[in-house]
Amino acid sequence: MSTEHCDNHLHADYYADDSVHQTAEVIENVEVAEGTWRIRFRAPEMAAQCKPGQFIMLKISDRDDPLIGRPLAVFDITPDEHGTPRDLDAVYLVKGNLTTRLVHVVAGQHLDVWGPLGNGFLPAPTRHLIMVAGGIGQTPFVTLAREYLGLENYGRECPAAEKVTLCYGARHQGLLAGVDTFESVEGLDVRICTDDGSRGHHGLVTEVLEQVLTEDRQEHGSNQGVRIVCCGPEPMMEAVAGVSKTWEVDCQVSLETPMACGIGICFTCVTKVLQEDGSWDYKRTCVEGPVFDASKIVWH
Ligand SMILES: Cc1cc2nc3c(=O)[nH]c(=O)nc-3n(C[C@H](O)[C@H](O)[C@H](O)COP(=O)(O)OP(=O)(O)OC[C@H]3O[C@@H](n4cnc5c(N)ncnc54)[C@H](O)[C@@H]3O)c2cc1C
Ligand code: FES
Repeated sequence: MSTEHCDNHLHADYYADDSVHQTAEVIENVEVAEGTWRIRFRAPEMAAQCKPGQFIMLKISDRDDPLIGRPLAVFDITPDEHGTPRDLDAVYLVKGNLTTRLVHVVAGQHLDVWGPLGNGFLPAPTRHLIMVAGGIGQTPFVTLAREYLGLENYGRECPAAEKVTLCYGARHQGLLAGVDTFESVEGLDVRICTDDGSRGHHGLVTEVLEQVLTEDRQEHGSNQGVRIVCCGPEPMMEAVAGVSKTWEVDCQVSLETPMACGIGICFTCVTKVLQEDGSWDYKRTCVEGPVFDASKIVWH
């Protein structure tokens, strides 16, 4: 998206004009955790444009049920044998109309995909990046971790962080998806927790986050230079926003608001965001988000 050269949020620059709309061949579609699948499809033009935290809209080609696409985060970008971005991975939880059908899609079938969409995470000088994920909310963080660890640059400059930590919580270990991928990212500190204690810390991801913040403060004397990014169920993101306020650490949340068009036209995805004068206004999550400053979100 070319949002840098326009201040008018209703201008066409905000309508995802630079995104690609294409039919993409499915390369594989495999179950990676309980009710959770990873689908890989070939989309080199889209893959070359993707930045961490952006998403795609996806539907199954030649099917009109569901009629409209669904938003999924870009989980990973895989290159061809020359290192050029070629395939995109999305990891999805089986939930409703699209995802229950998507599990039956096999290699060689086609998807209608448009993207990359949304603002994604903007690069910012950060000493310690703490990524906090709940449920299926880990999906935007693989590429972000690689970028902040200086392992990939996704076509833009991003100052490397000294440390990157993932705090990832799920109800039980069967629901943890993509942990192998995160553990394969060199230098990434992965902290797992589950509500029932079946893997990692027995408790909430906010407890793990506070532990990481405590360790950071003990080591550095303050949490200066720490930044939290968060994605997951809304109550969990609100709780993480509360922790960030208490600890006076910047926090961005990636919202998973239901969407219809994904490109700024229908206004189904609006969320209440605080303005500078203290009032709130609706912002479209698909084009002005999905990443927002956590302190600006009106949660209720
Ligand atoms: C930017 C963005 C990125 C996302 N990334 C991922 C991802 O990587 N993996 C993933 O599994 N999901 C992701 N989601 C959520 C996903 O788009 C929804 O779960 C989607 O509705 C599933 O489609 P479906 O047709 O299977 O379910 P639907 O038939 O659309 O919905 C099933 C049920 O879920 C409710 N619902 C729909 N959308 C949402 C939502 N966003 N939050 C809470 N409830 C909802 C509906 O009201 C309904 O009750 C993302 C959402 C956004 C906005
Ligand atoms: S989904 Fe249509 S405006 Fe955001």
